Amino acid sequence: MSFNYAFVTGASQGLGKAFCEYLSVNGYFVFAGVRDIQRFDLAHENVCPVVIDVTSDSSISQACEKVREKTNAIDLLINNAGINKDTATFGNKNLVCKLDQLDRGMLLKMFNTNSVSPLMVTKCFLPFLVTDPCFVINISSNRASFHDELPNENANYGYRASKIALNMYTFCSVWDLPKNVKTFAVHPGDMKTHMNPDGVDEPLIQAEKIINITKNWNDEFNGKFLRYSGELYPL
Ligand SMILES: NC(=O)c1ccc[n+]([C@@H]2O[C@H](COP(=O)([O-])OP(=O)(O)OC[C@H]3O[C@@H](n4cnc5c(N)ncnc54)[C@H](OP(=O)(O)O)[C@@H]3O)[C@@H](O)[C@H]2O)c1
Repeated sequence: MSFNYAFVTGASQGLGKAFCEYLSVNGYFVFAGVRDIQRFDLAHENVCPVVIDVTSDSSISQACEKVREKTNAIDLLINNAGINKDTATFGNKNLVCKLDQLDRGMLLKMFNTNSVSPLMVTKCFLPFLVTDPCFVINISSNRASFHDELPNENANYGYRASKIALNMYTFCSVWDLPKNVKTFAVHPGDMKTHMNPDGVDEPLIQAEKIINITKNWNDEFNGKFLRYSGELYPL
């Protein structure tokens, strides 16, 4: 049987795991990028857990080698791994949210994980992006917009700015990606996950909506910031 192949970062839980669930029963063989393989509990014949810490270049390279044992082509690369104020600071959110308490190391950690790492993952996976078309999906956030559609209680400097940087990296990468590779950044919704316990959207439903953007692809979206429903998100 012939598959399409996907690689998803941050697949241990939340939206990343939902992408694996959705894709594995919809024609894809999925490499589920996780930090701790022992904690990964999605057992499916079309899902292969692969260790990856997106902040480590050697870990990214080792993940590529693992993928190469099975395929030379990835049709869908989903840069989903991310940290927000609480998950980055283990509950000390003021370190990235309150001007008088900001911590340089924590802010840089957020930029490293949310902005630089997706770019470095894409760099390493470039040799796999050979199908026409194939997609690099960068999971961004409504918080990256000056027209945020959801209420917000605090400044959340690290998260908002690091997701804006991710959107710009996405835009810039169109210059360098081969023409067969399409890319977009996307706000995935207000999902109930470890990152966002008060969220209302179901990750599995949001995953399907985001994949549908690739199925109804419009080249005007290349490099742009979209909403999960498939329209341009106001910047
Ligand atoms: N939930 C929402 O409402 C919402 C809204 C807008 C945008 N988003 C974005 O959607 C994406 C998924 O978020 P989520 O809600 O599913 O959050 P989540 O449940 O906290 O999941 C985050 C995932 O990222 C992984 N991760 C964090 N740092 C990593 C690293 N250095 N290397 C590899 N993996 C790492 C985590 O792995 P571990 O399990 O090992 O920690 C986990 O699998 C994120 O980019 C987030 O910013 C979410």
